[in-house]
Amino acid sequence: MPRLSVWMVRTALLYLGVGFTIGGLLLFNKGVYIDAAIWRLRPVHAEIALIGWTLQLALGVAFWILPRLTRTERYGRTWLAWSGYGLLNAGVLLLAAARWNNGPAELTLAGRVLELLAVAAFAVYLWPRVKPFGK
Ligand code: HEM
Repeated sequence: MPRLSVWMVRTALLYLGVGFTIGGLLLFNKGVYIDAAIWRLRPVHAEIALIGWTLQLALGVAFWILPRLTRTERYGRTWLAWSGYGLLNAGVLLLAAARWNNGPAELTLAGRVLELLAVAAFAVYLWPRVKPFGK
């Protein structure tokens, strides 16, 4: 497994642990009331579970398993994918912090822009590796 995939899958697993723990807490708080403030973690849970865990796992595994770029070169412009990894996680962390306490809309916007740039970087990177076998 390439180094970037190792980082992405491990980071995704960390988000899985945190995201599902928050999910469990949300669920528990619905049945056995603890505190109203726990409900504020709902957007944090959604952000971490959807982007931090699910999307990151998919992109990390895609970097590993998609066909080689050419016969002589396997990965190509890896700096684009590494930038995507940095941007994605900066975006998730910023959004988790911003949405926790209904933070300023500018922070939420900045987080979304980072995530958008991350997806764009990955899309540009992965596109030429999406092709039939033997091409
Ligand atoms: C890949 C896994 C998961 C994803 C993508 C996910 C995503 C989401 C999303 C998008 C929401 C709606 C947030 C909103 O409306 O602002 C949500 C709500 C919630 N999630 Fe998850 N979740 C996942 C796993 C879990 C798990 C494992 C648990 C519990 C152990 C859980 C418990 C909850 C609860 C209690 C809510 C609030 C439901 C409500 O609005 O009444 N989630 N989740």
